[in-house]
Amino acid sequence: MSGSLIAVRDLNKTYQLGEVEVKALRGVSLDVAPGEFIALTGPSGSGKSTFMHLLGCLDRPTSGRYELRGRDVANLPKRDLAAIRNREIGFVFQGFNLLPRTSALENVELPLLYAGGIGAKQRKQRAKAALKSVGLGNRLEHHPNQMSGGQQQRVAIARALVTDPVLLLADEPTGNLDSRTSIEVIDIFQRLNAEHGLIILLVTHESDIAQYARSHRCVPRRSRALRQSIGRSKTRRHRPRPAWLRSRRTVESLTCRFS
Ligand SMILES: Nc1ncnc2c1ncn2[C@@H]1O[C@H](COP(=O)(O)OP(=O)(O)OP(=O)(O)O)[C@@H](O)[C@H]1O
Ligand SMILES: [Mg+2]
Repeated sequence: MSGSLIAVRDLNKTYQLGEVEVKALRGVSLDVAPGEFIALTGPSGSGKSTFMHLLGCLDRPTSGRYELRGRDVANLPKRDLAAIRNREIGFVFQGFNLLPRTSALENVELPLLYAGGIGAKQRKQRAKAALKSVGLGNRLEHHPNQMSGGQQQRVAIARALVTDPVLLLADEPTGNLDSRTSIEVIDIFQRLNAEHGLIILLVTHESDIAQYARSHRCVPRRSRALRQSIGRSKTRRHRPRPAWLRSRRTVESLTCRFS
């Protein structure tokens, strides 16, 4: 379909609730190139979370195409979808979704355990490295209720990263955080995107937060093709960008209006 890492065409999702059809997502198309960091905004109920579920292979579309790295994944059997989810995609949610009576280290090890074939020592090493990369090297044994919301979200980000995914999907990851802590989380996303080329799709209600992404698309209420506008994003970059990123054209984004 294209050279994009993600290519979505005319994606639809309809839920059947008894006699009632709920058209949750209607005709959304999106191309995502390597190295992109996209903020998705839109009114409540416009289908943002539904779209993230489809992109994350947690669910299958009713119709339309979804190619991930050139492979048509829209209609794969559940087992194959689970394998792709485990290997290629990391998730971060508003509610952190950590196991409560389990240490940060064990929480982050879990996806590696599910992936299988990775020894205990290597699992621990990789989980430690992921926690260090989000600044939590000194909280390995803490349980979620012994950490702040921002720290719990960083554990969730480490858990999303530990499998070394190509794509990070974050659905309102700052929705439960105060503004200072939200910026810390967004800083981590910016660093992962700039330094490691991790593709990030971030759903947010907060226009301030959307401005930190490199591009911004809106899901209109009737979720037709995502709209995009051009601008310059805010950056909180502490280190120079790598050469391959410096050569990219500057930043798309910022504002977006519904017609
Ligand atoms: N499992 C489901 N079964 C039936 N309807 C659903 C289901 N999931 C979502 N919907 C419906 O699909 C529509 C889109 O929901 P979705 O959660 O994707 O919206 P959203 O844009 O993420 O909203 P918000 O900003 O409030 O999180 C809504 O009308 C919702 O009620
Ligand atoms: Mg939602």
